[in-house]
Formats: sequence, structure tokens, C-alpha cells
Amino acid sequence: MIHPGSALTGAGPARTPFHCRMSAKRVCVSDFEADAKKILPKAVYDYYRSGAEEEATLGENVAAFRRWSLLPRVLRDVSSVDTSVRVLGRSLSMPVCAAATAMQRMAHADGEAATARACKAAGTGMMLSSWATSSVEEVMSAMSEAAGGGSNVLWLQLYIYKDRELSLSLVRRAEEAGYAGIFVTVDTPYLGRRWDDMRNRFQLPPHLSMANFSGAALAFSEGNYGDDSGLAVYVSKAIDPSLSWEDIAWLKSNTHLPVLVKGILNAEDAVQAVTHGVDGILVSNHGARQLDGVPATLDVLEEVVSAVQGRCDVFVDGGVRRGTDVLKALALGAKAVFVGRPVLWGLACQGEQGVREVLELLREELRLAMALAGCRSLAEISKSLVRRSQLNSKV
Ligand SMILES: Cc1cc2nc3c(=O)[nH]c(=O)nc-3n(C[C@H](O)[C@H](O)[C@H](O)COP(=O)(O)O)c2cc1C
Repeated sequence: MIHPGSALTGAGPARTPFHCRMSAKRVCVSDFEADAKKILPKAVYDYYRSGAEEEATLGENVAAFRRWSLLPRVLRDVSSVDTSVRVLGRSLSMPVCAAATAMQRMAHADGEAATARACKAAGTGMMLSSWATSSVEEVMSAMSEAAGGGSNVLWLQLYIYKDRELSLSLVRRAEEAGYAGIFVTVDTPYLGRRWDDMRNRFQLPPHLSMANFSGAALAFSEGNYGDDSGLAVYVSKAIDPSLSWEDIAWLKSNTHLPVLVKGILNAEDAVQAVTHGVDGILVSNHGARQLDGVPATLDVLEEVVSAVQGRCDVFVDGGVRRGTDVLKALALGAKAVFVGRPVLWGLACQGEQGVREVLELLREELRLAMALAGCRSLAEISKSLVRRSQLNSKV
């Protein structure tokens, strides 16, 4: 059922009183998801939540964090804990950033602009999806105009289209708008089989479109995608499945912005990426939405970090839901983590305020976890802080 004021009716963000009744107090990311599920239309919740096929990898992404225990140090004066980090030359208040998630105005009428404002307030960075429902320029303006201590740190997530000029024009627009880097998604030559979206014949509601593109075909607003996931049809028509390593070199030679690859799981690919001069690697399985049966990202992080040998920064996303997850990812070599669904749940619950709450929750959980583990700064987080869990080995 779509309630009045839902993002799907296009009726604007005046939804706070309804949301206040949702839950007494949200104390963890799961509480935000539970409330978001009550708020969102089923097809939207399904699109945000689901993974590919049987969702084996979706569960693994979360479970992998439970397979590591923390081994704290004590008596280290943790009266002050500093979570700040430098990412791609920019200072962030914490190593937790917003991952690219498409079509955020389905979650809340303010969509990507709300996420950008919340990230700025939290002093962190946001990766904007090529498939955003607000344009590259609109989102940068929203972030720039927002108050808050942080600076404007936006990166563009780039899908490479069959029409290369179209992809390059997106890069140019990001450069002109002041974006800080490009994350090229390399795990999506075709869309994974997401059963819920296929059953729901998922498409955008008619008042929304992919705002970076003009024309119904590219803006995913043709309205009739037959008896399938509309997004899968869109990808098969528009996205270039012939992408290869030469294209990474091509992209690098066409922009002065840092270029990172998003979607690396294999250490040999990580070495290829370094050889092709990337400025960073995001270990990602696309939130378990592409190839079902791949490992949890946390389970390959160490291999990738060790193959890269410090030649570029390595980031990770997938299943990060708690501050202790962030601590474990950093102990295994990640420079910072990205969160996808948690931001969407915050956005669905309460727009900008909801995303702020999710980011502050993760920050506070990380700060406490660091203090309880005896780490006063990110520099003090090392592999010696984690070990394979004896308790949860069955997970
Ligand atoms: C609803 C949704 C939409 C997404 N859209 C994109 C996208 O447009 N481009 C992209 O590269 N990754 C996309 N992703 C993947 C995220 O960038 C990220 O890799 C993933 O969400 C991390 O896992 P988490 O949701 O468990 O935190 C999407 C993920 C979700 C859940």
C-alpha cells in the first residue's frame, strides 16, 4: 500500500509525524531497516533490499563480519578517540562513506540531495550513482549550499555506456561541478538476476527518471519494459558489456580526476588494476546484487590488500552494519568503508535527518568500539586487533 506523502506519489517530504510513530527509538541500523520496510512500497523495498538469485552472497556479506573476533588492548588512555581519515586527498571525519545507490528519490522525495546534505553534516563523502534521480549538478549544489562543518566531498560512480561520448560527458560534468573522483563500476556488464525485481517487473514510478540523462530511453522512463525487471532490460540495451582493462586506461587518459575501480574481488584483478594505474580499489560485490555465490567482500579483503602491496588505497563495501564491522574492515587493511543500504533505510525513515542519524550512529559505534579496543586513532588499528572467531565458527 502506498501511504499519502510516499515518494511514489511525488507528494513531497511532509512525512515526519507518520515516521515518529514507527518505533520508540532506533538504536541500530536494523531498526532503521525495520521501519523503512513499513514505510516503503513493496517493490521499492524489494529493489533496495534484494540480492541476486538465492541471495547466498547477501547473507554472507553480513555473516563474514561475525567470523572475526576483536582482541582488545587495555589501559591505553582512550579518553580521546579520533576517527578522522584522509581519503583521496580529502579530510573526512570518519572512515564511513555513502556508497552509490541508484534512484534514491524512491525512498524519499528529497532523494540524493538529502543524502548529500547529511554526508556534509557528518563530515564524510558520498558516491553518487550514475543512475541518480537528481543530476550530478543538483546534488553538488545541494551539498554546497548545506550548512555543516564538512567540505563538499562527492565522487561520481560511473557506468560505462555503449555510447562512450555519453560516459565522457558525465565525467566532464563531474569535473566541472567539483567532484573529487570517479569510481568506475566494473562488475555490471549485465544486471544480475534479482528475483524480486523480476517478479515485480521493477521500474521507476512515472514521476521519476534517471536525472543525468535526457530522453526516455536513457533516463529509464520508457514505461514499458515487458515482462521482466525493467532495469535488467535497460542495462542490456545501454551498458557496454565489452568493457576491458584498456577502457580503464582510456578513462584515465581522459580525466584529471582520480579513477578508482569498484567491484574487485580477485587479487589478480587487483594487480591488473594497479598495473593500469588506478588511484584506488573498492572491494565490492555490488551489495551481492550481481553474481550470486561470490565470497563476502570481507573474506577477500586481506588477499586484495596483500596483492596491492600499498600501491594504492583499498576500500571495501558490503554488509557493513555496525561500528565493530568498520573496525574489523580497517584491521584487515581497508582505508575506509562504504555503506549502501543503511543510508537508504535512513533516507526512507526521515529524509536528510534519517541519513544523518544513521551516519552518526555508525560514527558513535565506531568511536566506542575503538575506545573499547584500545585504539585512539585509525593509525592504531592493525591486524593484531582481529582473529578468526572461535565462538561463531558455525556462522
Ligand atoms: C538499492 C541499491 C542500488 C545500488 N545502485 C548502485 C549503482 O547505481 N551503482 C553501483 O556501482 N552500485 C550500486 N549499488 C551497490 C552499492 O554501491 C554498494 O556496492 C553496496 O550497496 C554495498 O553493500 P551494502 O548495501 O550491504 O552496504 C547499489 C546497491 C543497492 C542496495
